[in-house]
Amino acid sequence: MTAIRYSTAGESHGKALVGFIEGIPSGLFLSTEDIDRDLKRRQGGYGRGGRMKIESDHAEILSGVRWGKTIGSPVTLLIENKDYKNWIEAMSSNAKAEGSIPAVVKPRPGHADLSGAIKYCHHDMRNILERSSARETAMRVALGAVAKRFLSEFGITIGSYVIQIGRIQVQSSKFKVKSFGTELLSIFKKAEKSPVRCPEREAEKQMITLIDRAIREGNSLGGIFEVFVLGLPVGLGSYTQWDRKLDGRLAQALMSIQAIKGVEVGLGFEMSSKFGSEGMDEIFYRAKSKEQRAKSENTIWGFYRKTNNAGGIEGGITNGMPVILRAAMKPIPTLRKPLRSFDITTKKPVQAAYERSDICAVPAAGVIGEAMAALTVADAFLEKFGGDSISETLRNYNSYMKYVKRF
Ligand SMILES: Cc1cc2nc3c(=O)[nH]c(=O)nc-3n(C[C@H](O)[C@H](O)[C@H](O)COP(=O)(O)O)c2cc1C
Repeated sequence: MTAIRYSTAGESHGKALVGFIEGIPSGLFLSTEDIDRDLKRRQGGYGRGGRMKIESDHAEILSGVRWGKTIGSPVTLLIENKDYKNWIEAMSSNAKAEGSIPAVVKPRPGHADLSGAIKYCHHDMRNILERSSARETAMRVALGAVAKRFLSEFGITIGSYVIQIGRIQVQSSKFKVKSFGTELLSIFKKAEKSPVRCPEREAEKQMITLIDRAIREGNSLGGIFEVFVLGLPVGLGSYTQWDRKLDGRLAQALMSIQAIKGVEVGLGFEMSSKFGSEGMDEIFYRAKSKEQRAKSENTIWGFYRKTNNAGGIEGGITNGMPVILRAAMKPIPTLRKPLRSFDITTKKPVQAAYERSDICAVPAAGVIGEAMAALTVADAFLEKFGGDSISETLRNYNSYMKYVKRF
C-alpha cells in the first residue's frame, strides 16, 4: 500500500512529457513557479550537452489544482519538448511517416539500446532510446516539486550537492555525513551558486578543469552527489516488513535514476570499516527545565544524538536526525569518440551511434535525487499521518508531535 502514486509518460523527442501524482491532500498551495524552479535547476550544470540549450522546461498543470490550491484529485502535469518541432515526422504516431529518418542500428554500450531492442523486438533502436533517455527525469523533478511543496508545510526541507566528479573529491569531511541541519543548509547554499553544484571552491575549480579535459577528448564523466532531508519526524517507515523500510525505499528510488549505480545511507560503505564502538550514534537525553518551559527556549531537550552516522534512519525508521543519502553516477555512456559495437542488421563491427550528449550530468542528477527522495518521503509521511486535506494531515501530525515530545 502506498499513500502516493505517481507515474510518467513521454518520449525524449516526442511532443511532451506527462505525469500524474495521486494522494496529495486538498488545500495545498501549488503554482507552476514552485515546479519550474526545480526544472531550471535540473537543466543547469557545467558539462551539459546542446539539448539543454534548446529546452527551457515549464510545467503546465492540467488537473488537480483549482485557483492555486490542490483539490484532492490527481495532479496531472505536462512539459512540452521544445525540440519536438525538429522531430515531428521522426516521432509521428502516423504510419505514413514511417522511414522518415534512418533507423538507429549501432547500439551504444552502457545504454538500454541492445537489450531493449532484443526484449521489445525492435530493429530501430530509436524506439528504445527515446524512452530510456534521462529526459524522462524532467517529469520526475516536476512531480518531486509537488511532493516538496507538500513537505514544506511541515517544515521539511530537501537539498543536494556534488561531492565528487571523476576522481576529484571535496576535501572537507564536513560534506561526508557528519553535518547537522544548519550546516547542511549552508553547504547547500554554497553549492547552489556553483556551476557544478559543489560547495568547495578548490574542488569546484578542479572539477571544471576535468570536465574541460573530457570535452576536449570526446570523453565523459560521472561522480557522486549527496541528498539531505531535514525536519523529518521520528517514526516514518517501519521495520515490520521488508518493503516498508524507508532506507530500502529510498535506495530504490535513487537507484532508479538513469546511470546511478550505487546508493549509500549515512556513512554507508565506510561504516563497514569501523568498530561497533565507532559507528553507532549514541543516545543522550536532556530533560526540559521549568525555566526553559516557561521561556520556551529552543535548546535541545528530550532524546538526541551527537553524531549522525546512521544518516537519520535506524531499523528502516526515521530517528529524527537529518536523512543523508549518497548516490554514485557512472560516466555518461554516449561518447563523441565512440566505443566499439556491432551493427544489429549487418552484424559488422561499427562505432556506437553518437547523439548530442551531456559530458557530465552529476549536478543535474542531484536535483533528480532530491525529487525522488521527496516523493518517497512524502509517501511515508502520508502513510503515517493520512489526511485528505492539508488541515486534516496537520491535525494528525501535530497530535503525534505532542505525543513524541511527552514520550
Ligand atoms: C541528468 C542525466 C542526464 C543524462 N544525460 C545523458 C546523455 O546526454 N547521454 C547519455 O548517453 N546518457 C545520459 N545519461 C545516462 C543514461 O540515461 C543512462 O546511462 C542510460 O539510460 C542507461 O541506464 P543505466 O546507466 O541506468 O544502466 C544521463 C543521466 C542523467 C541522470
